[in-house]
Amino acid sequence: MQRVGGIVKKSGPNGKDETDRLVSRRIGSAIIRSMSLPIVRICLVLLALCASNLFLGGILLAEEPTPGDTNAVPTLKTLQEDRNTLILDPESPPARTIAEVFYLVLGIVVAIFLLVFVPLVWMLFRFRMRKEDEGIEPPQIYGSNPIELAWTVGPAIIVFVLFLVTARSIFEIEAAVPPADAVHVRVIGHQWWWEYEYPEYGFITANELHAPLAKDGSPRPVYLDLESADVIHSFWLPQLSGKTDVIPGRVNHLWFAAEKPGWYKGQCAEYCGTQHAHMWLRVKSESDEDFSAWVKNEQRDASVDPSVVEGRTLFMKNACANCHTIRGTTAKGKFAPDLTHLMSRKTIASGILPNTRNYLLQWVRNPQTLKQGCNMPDMKLTQNEVKKVVDFLLTLQ
Ligand code: CUA
Repeated sequence: MQRVGGIVKKSGPNGKDETDRLVSRRIGSAIIRSMSLPIVRICLVLLALCASNLFLGGILLAEEPTPGDTNAVPTLKTLQEDRNTLILDPESPPARTIAEVFYLVLGIVVAIFLLVFVPLVWMLFRFRMRKEDEGIEPPQIYGSNPIELAWTVGPAIIVFVLFLVTARSIFEIEAAVPPADAVHVRVIGHQWWWEYEYPEYGFITANELHAPLAKDGSPRPVYLDLESADVIHSFWLPQLSGKTDVIPGRVNHLWFAAEKPGWYKGQCAEYCGTQHAHMWLRVKSESDEDFSAWVKNEQRDASVDPSVVEGRTLFMKNACANCHTIRGTTAKGKFAPDLTHLMSRKTIASGILPNTRNYLLQWVRNPQTLKQGCNMPDMKLTQNEVKKVVDFLLTLQ
């Protein structure tokens, strides 16, 4: 053993200089000691949770049923079940491009993670502090041009590659030209529901967007113009397209082409007030015939049923008609969802509740019990009046 300027140099049994080994051991023992700190332990547990989540996410993904077309009476449970909001399960070209970028980024970060953690764990054990190392100061080494250059240039190249791939994906999605058979929809975000206007077909509906498949079952794109009536919302259908902000005073654009028939789910993705979490999105992708039939029904004015004239009068006389539109009647309000064909919808309250008689009764009695903070007030109707109004609403097929 020899002492050089405060650093102990130690020779191994075969006379080999063991200074490097001692440096690594010292680093290793420092890391092992740091593991006794609570904060380090918490970080390790979080890391393990993230890793297990990744695998569990994959398993859940494999078990996720494809959106099925269910015409059965919806319940809260089935509504929850047919929600699939996984970006890793794309069923539309823009969503697929986004998922590809995600997998590329995931691949790169996993490679970096392994590059750091595998040698680190190996060093922890290989160079842990041993008895014979006690009281020995390893050499203190500062700076290395080649290493510093490597860990500056390497990440810079990775960031540049990611920039190029992301930019290419964005331009690829945005440059898509609408084909002749594309469907155009004007989307208006409200606190806390969605308005859909089909300008080519001349009607407005709410909360459930219908999208046709082409005749041979291949995708037919839907082009959306996104506007807001109040605050910033964000239109996000993870399986169909990227997240796009809906901003007051400007029009944003988005397109998708659903590849399978059935329901697709989404969510307003920008905090927009009390009921932001209950501002769901629902898209029904259906055959060309079903879509045409739906359009034809939506284009008609509301049907007149003489048996519910009392409920109809109550609706028109109360404030209901100031906020809701029912085409073919004096109700022309623009503040709340169009109810002309309310009963053609599967859900109410922006996709969160089944559109059944019981939920409608509770909703009309006092919407605040179902969607607290929503803009429809308790109308203070009597039980009998509520029943009459709901009977009228049930005729809006
Ligand atoms: Cu609309 Cu959040």
